[in-house]
Amino acid sequence: MKPKVVRRYDKKIVVPEGGVIDSGESPGRKIRMPGMEHMVERVLISRGCLSKRIRTLAREIVRDYRRAESIQAIAILKGAAIFSADLIRTIFDLNGPPMGIDFIRASSYRAETESSGKVEILDALTDNIAGKDVLIIEDIIDTGLTLNDIKNYILRHQGVKSLRICSLLDKPSRRKQPIEIDYIGFEVPNYFVAGYGTDYAEHFRNLPFVVVLKPSILEGKS
Ligand code: PRP
Repeated sequence: MKPKVVRRYDKKIVVPEGGVIDSGESPGRKIRMPGMEHMVERVLISRGCLSKRIRTLAREIVRDYRRAESIQAIAILKGAAIFSADLIRTIFDLNGPPMGIDFIRASSYRAETESSGKVEILDALTDNIAGKDVLIIEDIIDTGLTLNDIKNYILRHQGVKSLRICSLLDKPSRRKQPIEIDYIGFEVPNYFVAGYGTDYAEHFRNLPFVVVLKPSILEGKS
């Protein structure tokens, strides 16, 4: 069976340069993370905005998969752990189809801020996803290398029925390989963002919102 790769550019929220998507996180709020606060420039996307946007994405997904028997979600670890957990429960709340959940652990950045350009699959799928309607869930698409590799791997080996991609964040200005994304939460400028699953050297993943880190940290000046 030839897999159907669904291509759709729909609505997305674009965070402008210098902008903030904030509905409730008090501006200038101190992040209580001993030894880390000084790295954070500001909250970029508040938890209220994240949850509102996730609801909208879930609604679109439920609509698009209304004829599907089930959705096979594949979350890309570690970054997508938090987003995928919220998204799949919201899909349930909105009476979406049954879902299978599997994970791929991939890394191209390790502890670096620049992609190595080599994507390593550290843990592969465990479910049999042949013939399934697959939804890949990512936290952020930057160069596009990680997702292109994962998508090609799935299309080559798994004989899926259809494949769609959902990413919370998209940084198109950094793209090295084009990739079509079906559901995008927020398009962000070329900031180093962290929080809500995304990290800087393994820190900040537990923040319930997305922050911008100070450029000086990334330049090693702190
Ligand atoms: C991050 C992120 C994406 C990928 C995006 O993962 O979670 O998977 O980078 O970057 P790209 O579009 O340039 O490939 P990372 O390799 O840092 O691993 P992590 O998910 O464990 O943080």
